[in-house]
Parts: sequence; C-alpha cells; structure tokens
Amino acid sequence: MTHHPKSDIPRLHEAYSACFRIGAAVNPSTLTTQADLFRHHFNSLTAENEMKFEKLQPASGQYTFEAADRLIDFATANGMAVRGHTLVWHNQTPDWMFAHADGTPVDRDTLLARMQAHIATVVSRYKGIVHAWDVVNEAVSDKEGEFLRPSQWLEIAGEDFIAKAFEYAHAADPNALLFYNDYNESVPEKREKIFALVQSLREKGVPIHGVGLQAHWNLEEPSIDDIRAAIERYASLGVRLHITELDLSVFRFADRRTDLTAPTEELLAKQADRYAQIFRLFKASSAHIESVTFWGAADDYTWLDHFPVHGRKNWPFLFDEKHRPKRSFWDVLEEAPPSAIAGPG
Ligand code: GLA
Repeated sequence: MTHHPKSDIPRLHEAYSACFRIGAAVNPSTLTTQADLFRHHFNSLTAENEMKFEKLQPASGQYTFEAADRLIDFATANGMAVRGHTLVWHNQTPDWMFAHADGTPVDRDTLLARMQAHIATVVSRYKGIVHAWDVVNEAVSDKEGEFLRPSQWLEIAGEDFIAKAFEYAHAADPNALLFYNDYNESVPEKREKIFALVQSLREKGVPIHGVGLQAHWNLEEPSIDDIRAAIERYASLGVRLHITELDLSVFRFADRRTDLTAPTEELLAKQADRYAQIFRLFKASSAHIESVTFWGAADDYTWLDHFPVHGRKNWPFLFDEKHRPKRSFWDVLEEAPPSAIAGPG
C-alpha cells in the first residue's frame, strides 16, 4: 500500500538544504511502497543491497544491473543524488571471487585483477551519476588488539587491498568522492583504528576523500560526547564526512526483550529527544558533514526487524508505519536552521 505524505508537511531535505543532503537507503520493494515519502523528504538515495558485489556480479563476469538501474532512474527522474554502496566488503561477496573453478584459492594478483575488473565495470557504468562511493566497507576490527578484520581480502591480497580498491575506483571515475565506511565508528577504541587507517592512506597519497559514519545507533548509545569526538577526530584528517546508515533502534544492542507490539510513548519521546540532539550536533558540524543518509525511511520496513533478534519489530525512523511524521520528525525539523527563503522577520 502506498501512503501519500500530506503536501503541507515541510520537506526534510529543504529544511536542511543549507547544511547537508538528506538521504535514504532503498530496496526494490520500498522504491514502490515508500516512493512518495522519498520524493517529498529526501534528495539522496543509496541502494540497501542492490549495488553490493553479490547482486552486481553473482557469477564471474555475469553482471546484473537491472535493480540498481531502477534506483538510478528513480533518483535521476526526481533530481536526487546517489551514493554508491559498496565496492569491497567481507560480506555479501560471492565465494567464486576468492577461488578458482576447482575450488583452490586464487593468488593475490588474480584477486586484485578481479577486484579491478569489478570496480572498473561498476564505477564506469554510473560515472557522473553516483557522486560518492563507499569503496571499502568495514575493514577495521572491533576486537581489542586487532587492527584489520580477518577476511579473504586481507588473507589473500594483504593490507593494501584497501589502497588498491581506492586506486581502482579513482581510475574509473576521477570525479567520484571515495569513502571508507564503518560502524561502531563512535566507539573510542575503534574510532582510533579508523582514524589511523585513513591517516595512513592519506599519507601514502591514496585517493580517499571521506569517512562514512554508519551511525547504527540506539536511544542510549553512543553518547553525544562520543559522537562529537568521532566527528571532530575524523574531520581533523581534512576529509569529508557522510553519515551513511543512520537509524535509532528503540532497543539497546544487548536488550533482547520481545514483548512490545508497538513503541511506548516513553520510547517515542526518548527517540525524539535523541534525534533532536543528534541533528543539533550534525548541524553544528555541517562544515564537515555533507550528507546524512538514513538506513531506510519509515517504520514499516527496517532491517532491524530481524537483527539482532529475529522477528522482533523495531521503530527506528522519523516516520511511522503509515509514513506519518513521528514526534522525532517534528523535533528534528525544529533543529533545522532558519530558512534561507523565509524573508525578513
Ligand atoms: C552494514 C552494511 C549495510 C547493511 C547493514 C545491515 O551496515 O554496510 O550495507 O548490510 O550492515 O542492513
């Protein structure tokens, strides 16, 4: 069912146009069911899954672009920007990439050649349309004392698979902005590893232009102070920042309660306060932040309905299951800068 946002509701992306773009992650289903909401409030789109490796090249040399192209067509028809997500990741990458037909692992040169072929094909196809790419996703470890996450990329190609990915992407589209993207980006220990990684890439002259802060957060964590510290730390590298996957789970990560069939008034009030604080901080940091993308748009669909507790409903967005603005929406709107077109007074 499609819900039509009332046309008198202020457009979120217009309210924040002086600060940053407002984006949403979409999939082939929400591109239909939430189309009006996207058109009204958002001026940037990202594919939730459709530009991931396994979707674009499920078998060696067999590219499937139909679903990604549909997203691009929708975005261009509506004058929206597109963020590309994602070129190199340890997840949702098919096994064939790392092995020969007989199952034996490929060597470094073969893997890098396959990586280059994929990146060149995908980035060239959307050259001039996808203005920013998450080139490498989640390469840093969450574990204490471990720098990079163990993966087939790391094991076979070594640490500089990261630099290579950026070089290949830059060669394919020298104008695209290239990002390193990760979660737990505001946790101080991981923040320092991400900082160190991006700093070393910059020092080596690798073409990297920004850090993507995924921002899968909840009502308690991370603290505003930790988020601010992360923004300042990454910005000190002289790179651009994009908030790439924002959602605010109503449950803490360790909270496995399953008794709620609707969010309580208390949770909704808390979520609105949290969203307001977060957007106040984003606005204050808008010299560095160019884009704020939610990982979805309205509470009728969120990946959090299945993670980390399978089948448990969550309500992480500014719009409810019927696409009506929640208190969170109005509180975020309230934080927007005074309108540039609102004349004197
Ligand atoms: C990570 C990835 C996203 C998505 C989410 C879960 O954050 O970057 O592409 O898979 O996990 O939906």
